[in-house]
Amino acid sequence: MSIALVTGAGGLIGSEAVSFLVDQGLDVVGIDNDMRAYFFGAEASTSWRLDELKARHRRFRHVALDIRDFGALENLFAEIGSDLWLVVHAAAQPSHDWAAREPFTDFGVNATGTLNVLEAMRRHAPHASLVFTSTNKVYGDTPNSLPLVERETRWEIDERHQFFARGIDETMSVDQTTHSLFGASKLSADLMVQEYGRYFGMNTACFRGGCLTGGSHSGTELHGFLAYLMKCTVTGRPYTIFGYGGKQVRDNIHANDLVAAIWAYANAPKPARVYNMGGGRFANCSMLEAIEVCEQISGRKLEVSYSDANRRGDHIWWISDMTRFTTDFPDFNLTYDIEATLHDIYEAGRRRWVA
Ligand SMILES: NC(=O)c1ccc[n+]([C@@H]2O[C@H](COP(=O)([O-])OP(=O)(O)OC[C@H]3O[C@@H](n4cnc5c(N)ncnc54)[C@H](O)[C@@H]3O)[C@@H](O)[C@H]2O)c1
Repeated sequence: MSIALVTGAGGLIGSEAVSFLVDQGLDVVGIDNDMRAYFFGAEASTSWRLDELKARHRRFRHVALDIRDFGALENLFAEIGSDLWLVVHAAAQPSHDWAAREPFTDFGVNATGTLNVLEAMRRHAPHASLVFTSTNKVYGDTPNSLPLVERETRWEIDERHQFFARGIDETMSVDQTTHSLFGASKLSADLMVQEYGRYFGMNTACFRGGCLTGGSHSGTELHGFLAYLMKCTVTGRPYTIFGYGGKQVRDNIHANDLVAAIWAYANAPKPARVYNMGGGRFANCSMLEAIEVCEQISGRKLEVSYSDANRRGDHIWWISDMTRFTTDFPDFNLTYDIEATLHDIYEAGRRRWVA
């Protein structure tokens, strides 16, 4: 039981997980077919990150298979067999807007791909644990019906509401709401991950992320909000804000903090867990507030334009309540606030972007 398998190994979360797990003394097998370049074009390719990982870590092995290919996936699980200790399942089509362009592709990667991973694991390594990077989009646009108030730089929830102090918890309904096709394919996967935990007793967990980010993010217009914002600020590329006057609020969790949470779960796993995971009250910002920090850090002015139309299903205000997770894992702490995260994105990105 000394091997970890990471899907989406070149991506933001996958690549941070690979480095972290190798440093913990595990051999790591990373699946990635660079489908991100297919989704968003060459600028979003994650091949640079895979090259870095291969150069840096002797105990990392890259396998360029497609998680939609069950036969290839099952062969890999069969080869690793009972040595498998942990699966971090982070491969995905991650954008709302893109999902509507190719619904079959989106569902194939997000939903069927997840079922493939679960079933290959059940057949060949049922005692391993699995963390699935789910999303707060499983709640659809229900958060937009919360009582929100407009402030100078952001939307906020009414102070009298139960979610004001700590954010939105897992009791929010996933029904009767517009998810976007992406949200629906991720929710299908999320339910399967829970079901393999409940029905088969496997140690599976859904980490329902707010915005996940960090210096390793290959940010692009359709995905990776803070990384793309900083990239535009540094390179002089114009940035368009879609809807809500730029006052929409997101919480942001740095990939290092998320990977630390995955590690905590892997060392004391339980079946069928569901956790909201985000920066919470500790690390959240509106677009306008994030732009101000990007400009301060980079010393450059961002060229911003506004579109009145918001993205369909987009949240006006989202802050995650992580109390369920911190109750189960009391030693866990968030370490990156918004400024620290944007500094990391700036330092990691500026040479790459200019090149
Ligand atoms: N980044 C966020 O803000 C955010 C928020 C909530 C949830 N999530 C979820 O977290 C996970 C990781 O997100 P990320 O930001 O690291 O994404 P990412 O796009 O940076 O990484 C995903 C990786 O998966 C690979 N991939 C895609 N389809 C594949 C396939 N069919 N076979 C093999 N590899 C494939 C891509 O090439 C990419 O390298 C995703 O499941 C995403 O839905 C992300």
